[in-house]
Amino acid sequence: MTQGNKITAHYRREGPLSERILELVRTHRGEIEGPLCAPDLARFDQFHMGGPRSTAHLAKLAHPRAGDLVLDIGAGIGGPARQLVQNYEVTVVALDLTESFCIDAAALSQAVGMKRAVLPCCSDATRLPFRDDSFDIVWTQHAAMNISNKVGLYEEVARVLKPGSLFALHDIMAGPAGPPYYPTPWAGSEQQSALLPPEDVRQLIRASGLVEVQWNDETDALLEAQRAEREARKDAPPDPGPHLLYPGFLDLARNLQRSLREDRARVVTALFRKGTL
Ligand SMILES: C[S@@+](CC[C@H](N)C(=O)[O-])C[C@H]1O[C@@H](n2cnc3c(N)ncnc32)[C@H](O)[C@@H]1O
Repeated sequence: MTQGNKITAHYRREGPLSERILELVRTHRGEIEGPLCAPDLARFDQFHMGGPRSTAHLAKLAHPRAGDLVLDIGAGIGGPARQLVQNYEVTVVALDLTESFCIDAAALSQAVGMKRAVLPCCSDATRLPFRDDSFDIVWTQHAAMNISNKVGLYEEVARVLKPGSLFALHDIMAGPAGPPYYPTPWAGSEQQSALLPPEDVRQLIRASGLVEVQWNDETDALLEAQRAEREARKDAPPDPGPHLLYPGFLDLARNLQRSLREDRARVVTALFRKGTL
């Protein structure tokens, strides 16, 4: 099995995820009238730490403007893309290697009236099917952890960005205390994972020609927010979320939390610009 096939096998599910999500939304939405909209899907369609809150945080840094063309690399089933469209009136190309996710991204975007604003594209991030200087923002959340060819990834990011435009990232990186506990949400075993230490990632992105605007290690703040949330919830069951789509998801999430607590993984958000600061 190629590396790409191993990755897509990890994420792929039997049967459309979109139908299951729409069913869950109908169950948990209550009696709200009116057509379905993107925020109705938000607790089920974002597969990264912090969900829509982290997406909103990264968007505040990247500052999309109405009409921008955004490329989301490793877009999953399009949750972050729909949040950007909803809040900033941009158009997002939602690129992902997992074909079933691209199909789900199209179905969910159609269900919330965003068929023309979220454009799924099934492709590999290290061979982007776009011309040079195409995008106003290149965006990625929790995808580089699966991509071992990081030189190829960041060179492609730099190539497709318009001069002066921003690359926004939100990723998990290697911690100094050893590998994370597997299985994690992104990899069943170390063979599917491609974590590098933050300083190595930083150097690779700079080497692609992009200029650093900001680099934030969010791990401690995230752990503190999770601790406060646990404290507030006490023994209450978790809110409806991705664990209703992926059996075993809560165990994977616990492994990730333990890895973060023990410094076996770090969470970083960052912004880089093509051209000078
Ligand atoms: C943890 S999910 C994150 C999805 C989405 N960014 C989100 O936050 O909801 C990682 C995604 O990266 C995609 N991915 C992994 N390797 C990729 C590659 N080489 N090219 C494009 N997408 C890739 C996977 O298919 C998966 O959908």
